Amino acid sequence: MQILDGKKAAQAIRDELKIEVAQLNAEGKTIPHLAAILVGDNGASATYVGAKVKACEEVGFKSTLIHFEETVSESRLLDKIRELNNDPDVDGILVQLPLPPHISDEEVINSIDPDKDVDGFHPVNVGNMVQGLPTFVPATPHGIMLLLAHYKIDTAGKHAVVVGRSNIVGRPMSILLSGNSNPGNCTVTVCHSKTKDIRYFCQQADIIVAALGKPGFITAEMVKEGAIVIDVGITRMEDPAKKSGFRLKGDVDFDLVAPKCSWITPVPGGVGPMTIAALMKNTYRSCMQKN
Ligand code: GUN
Repeated sequence: MQILDGKKAAQAIRDELKIEVAQLNAEGKTIPHLAAILVGDNGASATYVGAKVKACEEVGFKSTLIHFEETVSESRLLDKIRELNNDPDVDGILVQLPLPPHISDEEVINSIDPDKDVDGFHPVNVGNMVQGLPTFVPATPHGIMLLLAHYKIDTAGKHAVVVGRSNIVGRPMSILLSGNSNPGNCTVTVCHSKTKDIRYFCQQADIIVAALGKPGFITAEMVKEGAIVIDVGITRMEDPAKKSGFRLKGDVDFDLVAPKCSWITPVPGGVGPMTIAALMKNTYRSCMQKN
């Protein structure tokens, strides 16, 4: 069993970006600028946005964090997005999800200029991705593709089972893995909450991507010997022994599944850092389209 080390692969990507930024600075060109919007005080969302801003600092990007209270109106949020759309200094806009129930995710996503939609959630960018055209690809599935590429994993002709069909991870992941690309060229099965026998499908998988948000859901008996297992889950579990009061648990029962795998991602240190690295790449790409 070998570890797909997202921390290492993400560091390699950030190091490449640092060099690109130094080059932009040397040429007197504008450097990438990410604007991140956080609504409310959800601890996990605040941590993720904080990590995104920190990654910007590390690679030398500009970043702006805009924090609204939980009760902010949808129209005020949309006004801010319009302002960022029209600000030539801003390359990437992301609104951390989930949003409070009184705000429509759809309205918010659709209001972001597709040219600044570094999350790749706008229908224009989703459409481009589905057609295999160059575009902003959602950060988590993009990060997973970068991780597979970093470790030169041969995915062509393999049967990939994606568990979960969210717009953020499962659905785009299934499209990317089935694409005529490298990594890609997989035969893909998508499992979800209405799938009759998830265990059966997982047992057929050469590659499992677990993105359903249920800690420990993928057990050893569901995994074929030699499978590649990608764990997207990051549920916070209470743990008084930890300073933070919690530890992160993935969707895969790592201790029992890992010995059966050819490759597996750990949690933490697998997909998480790759998501942020992919967002940095998307922000750089947006800046380059203007430079
Ligand atoms: N919430 C969970 N994942 C993501 C992500 O990739 N982008 C945004 N904006 N919100 C998220």
